[in-house]
Amino acid sequence: MIRLKDDEFIQLCDFMKTKYGINLSKKRILIEYRLMNTLNNEHISSYSQYLRLLKKDTGGKLEEELVNRLTTNYTFFMREPSHFQFIEEHILPEADMHAPYHIWIAGCSSGQECYTLIMRLEDQRKRGVKLPEITITATDISTKALQEAQQGEYPVEALDVLPRHWKHAYCQVHEERKTFTIRPFVKKQVNFVHHNLMEPYHRNYFQLILCRNVLIYFDEVSRLRIYENFASSLKNRGYLILGHAEMIPQGHPSYEYLKSSVYRLKERQPYG
Ligand SMILES: C[S@@+](CC[C@H](N)C(=O)[O-])C[C@H]1O[C@@H](n2cnc3c(N)ncnc32)[C@H](O)[C@@H]1O
Repeated sequence: MIRLKDDEFIQLCDFMKTKYGINLSKKRILIEYRLMNTLNNEHISSYSQYLRLLKKDTGGKLEEELVNRLTTNYTFFMREPSHFQFIEEHILPEADMHAPYHIWIAGCSSGQECYTLIMRLEDQRKRGVKLPEITITATDISTKALQEAQQGEYPVEALDVLPRHWKHAYCQVHEERKTFTIRPFVKKQVNFVHHNLMEPYHRNYFQLILCRNVLIYFDEVSRLRIYENFASSLKNRGYLILGHAEMIPQGHPSYEYLKSSVYRLKERQPYG
């Protein structure tokens, strides 16, 4: 395995932090393992050579592969269910039923989070709960994760944590492949988009943003920049839900704390 020299490690960490916000300063060995095949496949003999190629290739195939290999895409269905309950019991009941309700799932990985939300909302509708017309946009920087999300095919074992009736209502099992796929009418309800959270996205558009278990991998400066990006993407008094282990620093000028990991955009001041 090719080892990273100190200066190469610093350069690679800087690149990932500046461009994507991801802090890899304690992940030296992980980087070496995850990039081993890339270097071998491309017949690259040192990280200095790799970094030179990467600089020339900005936004190209080498960078795409770097991002796919260095992002942590761990996710699962029904993760942190109390958030979904809060959305159903407190957020959606106060929504304007006559206007579209836009939700952004930021850092969606391979799609389990979006599909959990959609299937829960379908259950709600079946129970007769009145909901607005909901649009869901799900974004990630990993093209590999987005492809998996779009495919919506998962190992059958993942069904164990889903309510029994979801298996037929929203999923289709493929015995021979030991997998199941999400039914097309569920998949159709989400729009997967490649987007880097370090860049602003849709100003004043979303009523709710979920960005769960993404910013734990970021440094503090990038996190603050992203909270600002989210504030400009949210409509007035919109909601932001982070992962259970994440929090916005106390006293942040844009957000009101509602409960652990759940925030609401403060009333926007009219321009002076
Ligand atoms: C650990 S997964 C979390 C998935 C899901 N939100 C959940 O809670 O299970 C984090 C995801 O954030 C994505 N990510 C990391 N940095 C990003 C960035 N700068 N822009 C967009 N997505 C990013 C990663 O590619 C990864 O798929």
